[in-house]
Amino acid sequence: MKRLLGPVAVIVLAAATACGSNGSSTTDDETITLGFSQVGAESGWRTANTESIQQAAEDAGIDLQFSDAQQKQENQIQAIRSYIQQDVDVIAFSPVVETGWDAVLLEAQRADIPVILTDRAIDSDDDSLYETFLGSDFVEEGRKAGEWLVDNVEDETNVVELQGTTGAAPAIDRNEGFEEVIADRPDIEIIDTQDGDFTRSGGKEVMEAFLRSHDDIDVVYSHNDDMGLGAIEAIQAAGLEPGEDIQIITVDAVQAGMEALAEGDINFIVECNPLLGDQLMELVEQVAAGEEVSARIEVEETTFTPEEAEAALPERQY
Ligand code: AHR
Repeated sequence: MKRLLGPVAVIVLAAATACGSNGSSTTDDETITLGFSQVGAESGWRTANTESIQQAAEDAGIDLQFSDAQQKQENQIQAIRSYIQQDVDVIAFSPVVETGWDAVLLEAQRADIPVILTDRAIDSDDDSLYETFLGSDFVEEGRKAGEWLVDNVEDETNVVELQGTTGAAPAIDRNEGFEEVIADRPDIEIIDTQDGDFTRSGGKEVMEAFLRSHDDIDVVYSHNDDMGLGAIEAIQAAGLEPGEDIQIITVDAVQAGMEALAEGDINFIVECNPLLGDQLMELVEQVAAGEEVSARIEVEETTFTPEEAEAALPERQY
């Protein structure tokens, strides 16, 4: 079902309806096709996000064309081009990185296919290239991490930062929010920062390098749970106790992260909500029908201490 039906499409739709003996043609014509390009499968958060989108599409009766970009922008651009060629009704994607989208989004615009950004935003001067953004306020997540640190350390504190994928919105924004808050505390210093690509193996590798270069690390600020879990492995392998010798702050609050928090290996988690599927499908239906939608829709998120994680775990959906 295209968003705006032209006269030819209306005639074709009418003919299909008239010819169909069991109404199946009508049903097919009314089904919305959504082309969705996912970042990859780099983290527990991403798995929960993918499951939420697939389940919500099924529940809403939306035909989901799904592709996994394996954390490569070129794969996403290719996927978007193939959705344009297939003439899907709506394209949605979670951009691997913030920049470099204008050309392909212009192609979608020229083909009159509305685009929804989900989870991660893009950096473009032309906001007519997409209908809306649905996701988190990553800068605020970084601030929450910084606020916990500021409230919980009293003197000289050396922080190492495990950054998400270079150029990705959550990596840029979580750094920005955190730095903004600790700027008022000259005794808190980020002594090293490196890209762990949002993966557990990346987090472990970078943490091992941090431990080789520094013997005075007090705190790890990890842009997601998975890298934090990798850092725990590296800290334990170095004969240190995570959560005690080195405090750990992460973002996401997925099951494995929450379990590590409840056990005391992580000290604080800022939630990033991956359950965007139902809201995304509502937006897909709205933009496919040519309705106006808000330019930015943010999801609600909280934070967790070890005690709060223990209480929340039995009900946690992801
Ligand atoms: O864009 C959301 C981030 O991407 C999540 O925090 C992280 O786990 C994922 O890879």
